[in-house]
Amino acid sequence: MLVHDHDILSSQVEHVTALVRGLTNPALNSNSLCAELIQQAELLRDQLLEHFGFEEEGAFPFLADLIPSEKANINALSSAHDSIAGAISQVVQLGRLASRETLTADLGPIINAYDRFYTAFSAHVQAEAEFLSRVSSALDDNQRRAVEERMRGVL
Ligand SMILES: [Fe+2]
Ligand SMILES: [Fe+2]
Repeated sequence: MLVHDHDILSSQVEHVTALVRGLTNPALNSNSLCAELIQQAELLRDQLLEHFGFEEEGAFPFLADLIPSEKANINALSSAHDSIAGAISQVVQLGRLASRETLTADLGPIINAYDRFYTAFSAHVQAEAEFLSRVSSALDDNQRRAVEERMRGVL
């Protein structure tokens, strides 16, 4: 079966989730927490862009050539990348534009943007795992090995 893990991305997501939760806790909310949140959300955005770029330029076209009947499903996975990247970029942007005071005064926008990101990311990780496990059975051993080769090295 094809395996494509998102462990590094997922652990960075959990890290940023904890920082976002910290914003809502007056005992934790501080200038350094805001700065850390922006920095870690930026790192997450960059890791995601690298991961998605790798999938869209390498792994997905390769799979679409091997299994043309799956092109629509592959395109749907690629489209999800845009909304995930858009939502985390919005978190970064909102954090950068706000001072700690304005961010604390109205946490709604950044929390909504992060929730949107989190929901889309979680759904995508699951959809991608299900897709790969399903198409795995349509490949012979050589093809599976070739796909695994292309998946190797990605975050
Ligand atoms: Fe992925
Ligand atoms: Fe993906």
